This record gives sequence, structure tokens and C-alpha cells, in this order.
Amino acid sequence: MVRSGARHDHDTGPAPEALRLVKVTKSYGTGDSAVTALDGVTLGLARGTFTAVMGPSGSGKSTLLQCAAGLDRPDSGIVQVDGTELTGGSEAELTKFRRGRIGFVFQQYNLLETLTVAQNTVLPLKLAGKRVDRRRAREILTAVGLGDRLGHRPDQLSGGHRQRVAIARALVTEPRVIFADEPTGALDTRSAREVLTLLRQAVRVHGRTVVMVTHDPVAASYADSVLFLADGRLAGRLPAPTAEAVAERLAHLGDDVMTGV
Ligand SMILES: Nc1ncnc2c1ncn2[C@@H]1O[C@H](COP(=O)(O)OP(=O)(O)OP(=O)(O)O)[C@@H](O)[C@H]1O
Ligand SMILES: [Mg+2]
Repeated sequence: MVRSGARHDHDTGPAPEALRLVKVTKSYGTGDSAVTALDGVTLGLARGTFTAVMGPSGSGKSTLLQCAAGLDRPDSGIVQVDGTELTGGSEAELTKFRRGRIGFVFQQYNLLETLTVAQNTVLPLKLAGKRVDRRRAREILTAVGLGDRLGHRPDQLSGGHRQRVAIARALVTEPRVIFADEPTGALDTRSAREVLTLLRQAVRVHGRTVVMVTHDPVAASYADSVLFLADGRLAGRLPAPTAEAVAERLAHLGDDVMTGV
């Protein structure tokens, strides 16, 4: 899974990966209380793939997503999204890039309660200074099954519907990469399945790249492959995951780290 030293020629080489991390390190705190959340993570994800990230609580999954999405800055290392380096630029450049190319879905939806479903959905376009088209909001909300809820407020929606709004909001700018941190963590089984199907559709139908943190082996089985994290390091990769194989791997994650697999 670690493709160290891979290079591509910009004129003749393959298209850049959707996401590339090189030796990404991130610590919190200082001195005795310092915690290394990411410890030299190197990985590459091809465009148009759906990847699940799994690992024990505190293994660095959210930190990985935040750094990869440009919501947080690593202490060292390189993050590239769609061939563009996020690390190094100014805060304003980073924000601009993030708004145009990256979508993020949170466990707790993060919708603005005072805005309608339609207004929440087009907010990223507004923030990016793009023309806001009501038809676009209707189109994208219809695609996630909420075409009849445009004027509703988030508190009138179920958790599953709220998360669908959050997905519509993440898709509205047509981002290259969508990051989702436990998007089904607060949902019942059926809503979770619907949300996972939407994420998979974004990949299969629209060619987006999705990176999703989850604790649920069934959710992970919707992905093309699973990356395992332990103690801030990559601890394995499982292609074509089944829920059973994922659960088995999780149970032995500690062993993998011990043997350096
Ligand atoms: N803002 C912060 N300040 C201090 N320590 C932090 C902060 N964010 C994360 N950490 C620490 O960094 C490590 C990795 O945290 P992270 O949230 O990335 O883990 P996680 O794998 O997402 O866990 P979970 O499954 O519980 O969400 C943990 O030890 C955590 O306590
Ligand atoms: Mg987390």
C-alpha cells in the first residue's frame, strides 16, 4: 500500500493520484503531554476509488482525514490532492482550493440549523463566490432523495435525511475528493445503507474519490479497499473487503503491527 518514491512525469505520465501523502506527521501538545497522532504516513489513492479507513479509537483516523482534507496542517510531510500540494501554500490559497476541490462529511452532519435544506446544500458555492443556482440545489437534492424537502429546516429531518443533506452539500461543488468521518456512526442500519449507497454512487457514477473513516465492517465492505491504522501508522490494506474479512483483520490488527505487516 505504501508506494514510496513513486514519480510521474507531468507531460507523459499517468494522471496524478486523487490523494497522495508522503511521510505525514502530526503531534498534539508539547513535552510530556505530547501525542503523536500521525507517525510518518505515506499512501496514494487512485482517482475514482472508494477507500475506508479503520483502526482503534485514537489511532489517528480523524487526524489523517483532517490533514488530507486541508482542514488541519501536518507538522511535516506532504499532502497532495489531485496533484496539487496542500502543504506549503498560504491559508487563503488552501481555503480556496479546499472549497473548490474537496468535500467533507461529518458524523454529526454539521448543518446550519437556521438555514433551509436548499440553503445548506448550496452554502459551499456561496462561500466559494460561485453563482448559486436554485435549480442546481433541487437537482442535487433530488439525486439524494430529498427533492421534496428543499424548504425544510434540519430540525424537521431525521438523522438519515440530515446526512443526505450533508452529502448533497459535499457534492455540490463537484469536488475531486470527498472525505467522510464516520458518516454512518449516528445512523440506524437502513439510513446507514442509504448513505453508503450514495457515497458509492458518487464514485461509480460520477468518478469522485471517497475516503471514509468507519468503525463498522459492514460500512467498510462498501469500499474498494480498506486501510488500517494503528498508533498513527498504516498497519495494512485489504482490497475487495468483505465485512467478515474486515472484522477478522481488525481483531488481529495488533498482531500485524507487531510483525510489521
Ligand atoms: N485537538 C487535539 N488535541 C490533542 N490531542 C488530540 C487532538 N486531536 C486528536 N488528538 C489525539 O491524537 C490521537 C489521534 O486522534 P484521532 O482523533 O485522530 O483518532 P481517531 O482514530 O479518529 O479516534 P476515534 O475512532 O475515537 O475517532 C489521539 O491520541 C487523540 O487523543
Ligand atoms: Mg475520529
